[in-house]
This record gives sequence, C-alpha cells and structure tokens, in this order.
Amino acid sequence: MSRTSFPEGFLWGAATSAQQVEGGRRAGGRGDSIWDRFAAVPGAIADGSSPDIACDHYHRWREDIGLMRWLGLGAYRFSIAWPRILPEGRGAVNRAGLDFYDALVDGLLEAGIRPFPTLYHWDLPQALQDRGGWGNRDTVDAFVDYTVAVTRRLGDRIRHWVTHNEPWCAATLGHEEGHHAPGHRDPAEALRVAHHLLLSHGRAVAAIRREVPAAEVGIVLIHCPAHPASDREADREAARWFDGFFNRWYLDPVFRGAYPADAVADRVARGHLPGPDLPFVQDGDLAAISGRLDFLGLNYYSRVIMRAGPDDRPVAVPPGPPEALTAMGWESYPRGLEESLVRVHREYGPRVIYITENGAAYDDVADAEGCITDARRVAYVREHLLAARRAMALGVPLAGYFVWSLLDNFEWGYGYGKRFGLFTVDPGSRQRGPKASAHWYRDVATANAVADDTDPISQGDTRASDP
Ligand code: FCB
Repeated sequence: MSRTSFPEGFLWGAATSAQQVEGGRRAGGRGDSIWDRFAAVPGAIADGSSPDIACDHYHRWREDIGLMRWLGLGAYRFSIAWPRILPEGRGAVNRAGLDFYDALVDGLLEAGIRPFPTLYHWDLPQALQDRGGWGNRDTVDAFVDYTVAVTRRLGDRIRHWVTHNEPWCAATLGHEEGHHAPGHRDPAEALRVAHHLLLSHGRAVAAIRREVPAAEVGIVLIHCPAHPASDREADREAARWFDGFFNRWYLDPVFRGAYPADAVADRVARGHLPGPDLPFVQDGDLAAISGRLDFLGLNYYSRVIMRAGPDDRPVAVPPGPPEALTAMGWESYPRGLEESLVRVHREYGPRVIYITENGAAYDDVADAEGCITDARRVAYVREHLLAARRAMALGVPLAGYFVWSLLDNFEWGYGYGKRFGLFTVDPGSRQRGPKASAHWYRDVATANAVADDTDPISQGDTRASDP
C-alpha cells in the first residue's frame, strides 16, 4: 500500500478548549466566564444547552489522556480557564485551579504527550466583563497578571505556549455580530477589543519569556482564503475586503507591526473608525504586538468566495455544492489549506507553523452495533493532511497538526449539535467511544504517514482494538 510520509518528528496532536470540554462550572472555586453568562440568555445557544458539564473533562481527564495515548498522540492542545485561576479575573490566585492544570500536565508528560496550552480561548472571567471586558484597556494588564500566575506554576514543565486563540472570533463574533459572548453588536467596540487582545498577546509574550526563558511562544490565528466570484474588478475588491477584515487585521500587526492601511480605510468608510489614526492605539503598542514569535498556530476550516453585492458591498457567495459541505455549512476545500500555509509563509515568514485546528462536523449516527463510521470526517482530515504535506514540499516550515477535536463537545452558539470529535461523548453518561476516524487517525499518528487507502471500514474490526 502506498502512503504519504511526514518528516521524522512531525507532531501529531488533538485540540480542545476549556469551555468546550471541561464542565465543572463551580468545581474547585471556579468563577463564571462570559460564556456561562451568555449561554443562560434564552436563544443564545441553538439547542438551549449549557456548558456546565460539557464532556466532564474536569473529572475525566485521566481517561482522556488514556484516549490520547491510545491514539499515539505526541501533543495535546488544550486551553486554561482564566476563571479557574482567577475567579474574579484579578487579585487572589485560586490554588485549586492551578492544581487542576498541574495534575493534567503531569499526567500528559507521564504519557509522553507534550502539553500545548492556550491561555485564552474565549472564556473571559465575567467579573472582568462587568468592568468593560476586552473593551477596557485594563483587561490587558489583568491578562498579563494571569499569564504570570500560570507560567510561574507550570513553566518548568511546558515548553510551548499559545497566548490567544483566534482573536478575530473573540472580537468580531463577540462584539460586532453578537453570536458569541458577550453578545455585543458594536463594530467600534469590536476594533478596540481586537487591539486589546493583540496588545495583551504582545505583553504576554514578553511576560512568558521573562518567566520561562526556554519557552516557545506563539499565537493562534484562523486563516480563510478569500476568492473572488469572478475576474470582475468589483468581485476582486470584495475578496480583498474580506482578507483585510478577517486575515490581515491580525497577521499584519503581529508580523509587521502595523494595521493594514486598506482595511483601516474600509473601516473608516463604514463609520467604524473616526479616521486613519486608530484612537485606541498608544505609543509602543504596535512594537509590543510585533515582538519576536517562535511559531504561528494556524487554524483552517474553509475558504470564502466573495462578490460585490448591491452598492458594491462585499457579500459571501453561499458555499456549495451540498456534498462538499460539512454540518457547519462550510465547504470542504483542502487546497485552501495549502494556499493558506504558502501565503502565510511567503508573506509573513513565521519561523515555524503548526496547524493548531482543522477538522469537520458531520451528522454521523451510530449503526446497530454502536459504531460510528464517519467516512466523511476521515476523508476531510485525510485530504487536508495531504494538502499540508504539499505545502511542506513547497518550503512551508510546518511542524505539527492538531485535529479539531479530540471529543464531540460544546460548539459555542450551536451547543452540542455540531460534532467534530474523533470520539463521541454520550450525552447522559458522558461515556467516550471511538469513531472510525479515531482508528484512522491512530494509524496516521503511529505510521507518521497517510495511507492512500481511504476506506476506514477496510481496516478490519475496529472494535477489536478499542481503547
Ligand atoms: C474554531 C474554534 C474552536 C472550534 C472550532 C470548530 O474557530 O477555535 O473552539 O469551535 O472553530
């Protein structure tokens, strides 16, 4: 059987985030996050569910490490819940919160799995939101204090640190479109929030380097290529607009120390900014944001096709065809991953790149024997891995891949209805079960290669080797 190999030492991982898997809302003195509050708003979560228990990873983490070990993973990307460490956002550090991650990290290391934590995956302490949240510049200082508390305790055992996950989502979905916590719809606030997120990233990088001199530090950005619907100038302009709004608003400050002038002009034209001088930027901010980074984490799910709508306003073309769509309605477009990696490498030159998220939700159901043969997820991940491998052949310094996600989990505003996991989680018992994709990914991680045979069923009686 022929196969596509990855270089020796390529890191195979899986990703989750605290709010989506941990549960344990009140356990060990945890404070509320903005997502606990947001999820309680009627209509905010599509299936009316809450993240209070989620996958109960807070209590089942040992079992979950067992699943990772069975998968043969080299790394686990998880996030640390700020409200566990500082229930009030600032002030007294909650020992029990640090103890939880301390034990998790030791458990991972014992299993030979590298911990790859993210400090902020959207779960701001509600107490800080009550004081203006990320719209308030003081939250930047609070984030640095939190970073210091975590790195002092765990820095002796963790080498790779991620500051933020997808600041675009936190800023825009949370403060401009209102689909995410805290549910605001204020474009001017969203831009201020984006800046404070970026500034807190830069300040945290410096703090981590002070606390953990050997640390490798990065940020995770989502990247979505924007393709024009046609060669018409107006459609190309719409694609440029999206790229500035979504990708370059973050890549440019982090790697070039400047906001993209064209995208700033777009925001001014829409009345979201008073003029090209950004009112929230202070002296030294952009230098702090663009300090040296050891790696970029890139999250990739899909592309967007843009066209000029009425009055030449940019609009996204509905993706299709139906058979190419995941349950999120996102087009499976593996070539976009190759394109994203090559673009980021050539235009921004991060030293190292990890794919920190990639995966797909599908409405798979168990057969009579309880098996979930998620062939579409296998095909999605497989084709994206081959795309990533092609990018590496073009010189992209890609060092690892984290599939989203280890477990079916709380998918933000969708609740538990969108399932990305390699493992299913029973909604009542929380019992985990491997899907065919778990068996398949285990083969990939073990062989450090993607076999050309794609049929997950052909791999024999999968349950014979269940974890
Ligand atoms: C990303 C998020 C992650 C998960 C996936 C599907 O944007 O970082 O938490 O929700 O999308």
